[in-house]
Amino acid sequence: MSEAIFIQACKGQETKQVPLWIMRQAGRYLPAYQEVRAKYDFLTMCHEPELSAEVTLQPVREFGFDAAIIFSDILLPLEPMGIEVQFIEGKGPRLAPQIRTRRDIEKLAMVEFDADACFLGKALKRVRGELDTNKALIGFAGAPWTMACYAVEGMGSRDYAVIKHLMNTEPDALHALLDKLTTVLIRWLRMQLEAGADAFQVFDSWADALAPMDYREFALPYLQKIFNALRPLGKPAILFSKDAGAFVGENHQLPIDVLAMDWRVNLAAIRNRYLGIGPSAYQGNLDPLVLSGRRDILLQKAGKILSENAGMPGYIFNLGHGITPATPVDNVRALVDFVHGYRRQP
Ligand code: CP3
Repeated sequence: MSEAIFIQACKGQETKQVPLWIMRQAGRYLPAYQEVRAKYDFLTMCHEPELSAEVTLQPVREFGFDAAIIFSDILLPLEPMGIEVQFIEGKGPRLAPQIRTRRDIEKLAMVEFDADACFLGKALKRVRGELDTNKALIGFAGAPWTMACYAVEGMGSRDYAVIKHLMNTEPDALHALLDKLTTVLIRWLRMQLEAGADAFQVFDSWADALAPMDYREFALPYLQKIFNALRPLGKPAILFSKDAGAFVGENHQLPIDVLAMDWRVNLAAIRNRYLGIGPSAYQGNLDPLVLSGRRDILLQKAGKILSENAGMPGYIFNLGHGITPATPVDNVRALVDFVHGYRRQP
C-alpha cells in the first residue's frame, strides 16, 4: 500500500496530485458541523471521542481533503495542569486562574497522558480506524509561547501587556512557565502520535507579538526542544508560525519537516531563498477571506499560489490561517477540485 500523498509531500517526495487540507476544516462553515454543534457545546464536542471523531471526519468525507486534523483545541492540555478553560460565545476563550506569579507557575501540575485513557487518544484511534489509508491524520498542539500567552493573559490579547510585563520584570519566571508548558506539550503530542496521528502541527499563533531578540529567547529554544524530543518518533513535524515573516531565518534553524506560513508572505520566494537547507516541504498560504469571494477570483488566486509553488515537490496547499465561518461550502468544494486537478508543468 502506498503512503498518503500528504505524508509523501511532507517528506519532499513527488506526489501524483498536490495534497491539501485547510486549517479549521472541521468548523462552523460546514452545515454538518453546525448540526452537531447545535446539540453540544464546543468543549463537550472536544471531550467526547465519538463526537470529535465524527466532526473530524466530516470535511474529509464531504470534500476529499488529503488529511484530517483531529478536532480539539490547543488550550485543552491546560485543563489537567490546573487551568479552567471556557469558551464564551462571541468572545472566545477565558482561562482561570491567570498564571502571573512564581507561585502560580509552581502550582501547575506536570501531567502525563495515556493514549488509551485520554479522550483525545481515544478520538485519534477512532478516526485512524475509520480513515482511508491514503489519508493522513494530523495531531496538534500550541507552541509554548502561544500557550504561555493564554495562560498569563487569560484570554486573547491585543498588546500582550501582561505577559510582556512578566517577561520584562521576571524573565526567569516566564522561562520557568515555558519550561513546564514545553514538557507537558511534548507529552501531549507524543500521546497523539502513539494514538495514531501520522504527523503533527505546532501552532504558534502569537509569534508576531515578539521582537526578534525575544523570539530567540522565549520562543525558539522551546520549539527546538519540542521538535528534537519528537524527532525519534519519525513522524512529519509541521510548524505553523503566524505573521512570522520576521522570523523566517530563525524558523529555518528548527528540525521540522514542513514550514507553514500565513498569507502575508510569498511562500515561493522563501522556499527559493532556503533551497537545499530548509525543511523538506512548505504549506500554505491562501488568504482565508479569498474563499468568501467570487469563484473566478478564488481560482485565479489559488492558481497563482499553485503555479509559484507546485512546480517543486514538497508542497502542501492550505490557507494562511483558519477558514472563516461565513465561507460558502461550494467555494470549498471548487477549491479542492481545482487543487486536485492541477497538473505540474513538465
Ligand atoms: O483545524 C481544525 O479543524 C481542528 C480543530 C482546531 C480548533 N482549534 C477547533 C476550534 C484547531 C487546530 C484549533 C487551534 C487553535 N485554537 C488555535 C491555533 C490556530 C489559530 O487559530 O491561530 C488557537 C489560537 C485556538 C484557541 C481558540 N479556540 C480560539 C481563539 C477560539 C475562539 C475563536 C472562534 O473561532 O470562535 C477557539 C474555538 C474553536 N476552536 C472553535 C473551533 C472549531 C470554534 C468553536 C465553536 O464555537 O464551534
